[in-house]
Amino acid sequence: MLKKTTSDFLRMKKDGHPIVMVTAYDAPGAELCEEAGADTILVGDSLGMVVLGYDSTVSVTMEDMIHHTKAVKRKASGTFIVTDMPFMSYHISKAETMLNAQKIIQESGADAVKLEGSGEVFRHTEALVEAGVPVVSHLGLTPQTVGVTGGYKVQGKTASEQKKLMEDAKEAEKAGACMLVLECVPEEAAGKIQEMLSIPVIGIGAGRITDGQVLVYHDIVGYYGGHTPKFVKQYADIRKDIREALSTYTKEVREKTFPEKSHVFSPVEKINSLYGE
Ligand code: KIV
Ligand code: NA
Repeated sequence: MLKKTTSDFLRMKKDGHPIVMVTAYDAPGAELCEEAGADTILVGDSLGMVVLGYDSTVSVTMEDMIHHTKAVKRKASGTFIVTDMPFMSYHISKAETMLNAQKIIQESGADAVKLEGSGEVFRHTEALVEAGVPVVSHLGLTPQTVGVTGGYKVQGKTASEQKKLMEDAKEAEKAGACMLVLECVPEEAAGKIQEMLSIPVIGIGAGRITDGQVLVYHDIVGYYGGHTPKFVKQYADIRKDIREALSTYTKEVREKTFPEKSHVFSPVEKINSLYGE
């Protein structure tokens, strides 16, 4: 399958073909996402929580994002990869934003970057797009601002919040964003934004009327031990399988029932396999 581009995503919106986005952080995960036919992979800074063990995304660094995007890229080179710009990496100055985006794109091979928030962030978005960097905008619940907002809550519940969200969405498109991720907003508000914008709107906890959906890999397969929000559908319980595998392995080593005969090299086989024969 040919790697999709931003114009494919625009066409998919026009044709009403849902866009499938899923997060990935490592090589085996990325390989499985590509195999499943995801249209785009997000190397999200949710990395901080689901992989690195932090309790929010604000500890994630540029180096973390580049390191993990490289791993994803190695096994999903045929998929459009979006990488989150981490906390405070696109706020200090336009020059620093540009340099950080350059690093992410050139060092890791990401196809686009994602920036949370509105206002001044849109000026940075414009500068990036003008330089040729595809930008995905992220509005609604923006986890990097959780310290200011005081928690992970549904956004756009009141009429005035909804009005601001609509205005921001419009401005994201005007600033040149190629897609908009909307997190944790009422379905009705997301639907209005989907209709109003010509760029694709990808929802997470944003209901059924968006142009696509994104979920966190670890939530889909049940690999995250922390809180699972209402909008998640968990399609597998991989923690259960891993727990069983590990405890059986532990038991068998202690009981000396592993390794079995079939796992053991004879001297001749050992030499052959060393030489790849
Ligand atoms: O970091 C992330 O995984 C994200 C998605 C939840 C949209 O930003
Ligand atoms: Na993120």
